[in-house]
Amino acid sequence: MGFDKDFIFGLATSAGQIEGGAKDGGRGESIWDVFAAKPGKIHNGTTPAVACDSYHRFDRDLQNLKFTGVDSYRMSISWSRVMPDGKGQLNQTGVDYYKRCFDALLEAGIKPNVTLYHWDLPQALEDKNGWVNRDTIKYFAEYADKMFSVFGDTVPLWSTVNEPIAAYVGYALGGFAPGRTNEKEGNQARHNILVAHGAAVDAFRASGAAGDIGIVIDIWKRHALRDTEEDRAIMTDQDERNWKFYTDPVLGGSYSDYILSHLASEGTLMDIYDGDLELMHRPIDFYGLNVYNRVPVTADKKTEADFSQGGNFLNNKTEYYPKAIYDAIRLVNELYKLDIPIYITENGTYSIGPEPRGKDKTIQDDDRIKYVSGFLYWLEKAIDEGYDVRGYYLWSLMDNFEWTAGYNYRFGVFETDFDTLECKPKKSALWYRDFIKKVKEK
Ligand code: BGC
Repeated sequence: MGFDKDFIFGLATSAGQIEGGAKDGGRGESIWDVFAAKPGKIHNGTTPAVACDSYHRFDRDLQNLKFTGVDSYRMSISWSRVMPDGKGQLNQTGVDYYKRCFDALLEAGIKPNVTLYHWDLPQALEDKNGWVNRDTIKYFAEYADKMFSVFGDTVPLWSTVNEPIAAYVGYALGGFAPGRTNEKEGNQARHNILVAHGAAVDAFRASGAAGDIGIVIDIWKRHALRDTEEDRAIMTDQDERNWKFYTDPVLGGSYSDYILSHLASEGTLMDIYDGDLELMHRPIDFYGLNVYNRVPVTADKKTEADFSQGGNFLNNKTEYYPKAIYDAIRLVNELYKLDIPIYITENGTYSIGPEPRGKDKTIQDDDRIKYVSGFLYWLEKAIDEGYDVRGYYLWSLMDNFEWTAGYNYRFGVFETDFDTLECKPKKSALWYRDFIKKVKEK
């Protein structure tokens, strides 16, 4: 029992967080380049212009992937690298970069798992009202279609969109690029991105590409700290708005009555066109689940204080609750009677600032090892109970541009030296390598 030999172990990154080469090879600007240039948006005023420089150093990344013995690498394509204006002609230099990456991965026996959209909208489309504009759905489908025609025979696993909630954070809350703060537009943006997902699935089927396609949606399950109506209401409200908004239409076929009635009464309900719900609910081949933690909620200050004192926390002050992965897998299966496999497309933890070093100078990230082994334990439990989970991707291959936290939050199992751009294994990389080896030798 437990993980079998075919189970896919991987590591994950995304283009906007690792590539750098922001102005190289004909790449256009993305909304994150523009957002990061605004004062006060990113920790320490840093930008993704160089990041880990993977655009020039893919070979370094490949060596590190090989070192860990992973079966698969989850990465994303930068839309503005392959289509600098977000539409129209392909930029061949950008396409060639990804071709080299995918070919090299396959040659090394590492399956590319490729996300089309990991938050980095071409700025040229943002200039036309971005995800609020329905035309962006069409442009996304065109971009997807072009990627399928170039890479459809090469890439075995595709995801349309990573964590559509990022569109809401970017258009309603202002916390992410493009930094807009309009609730109704935020709802429109997140709706449109789900429709765009469906349009890309249609393009995939029409292309006859050989691989599988899915979408990645993160679940941060709320837990009421008290068994009271008040706390349960907070839990329901936040569950509805933070993840069911996406999983309901994609996996279940409709928005919940709760969402529709609440947004309508708040005056922020998005326009939903005929056919949108059908598109959002197009059959997919797998569901990509990103799971990092649960979120305890309560209206009571004392309960909250007791929890922060009595709970089980990591050094970064996040709760250590590895069962979150098991809970999320069960929950989606129960809610939507899933008949497709799940891939855990992201799971990982971070340090704030530098991590401790041992005598040999290797980073001793014991907290990360504790976190990941806890999650893998609960994942294995879910698999043993019969849930169909086919893979697990640890976030992240290396320390990288952690969006608004800049380079201060470090998620890598490889340490990135942002001066020399060398990446060295942390203790967790060795641990993960040994873990994978043991499973494969079983
Ligand atoms: C995102 C990643 C991010 C990670 C850690 C996920 O929500 O997909 O891009 O780096 O969380 O915060």
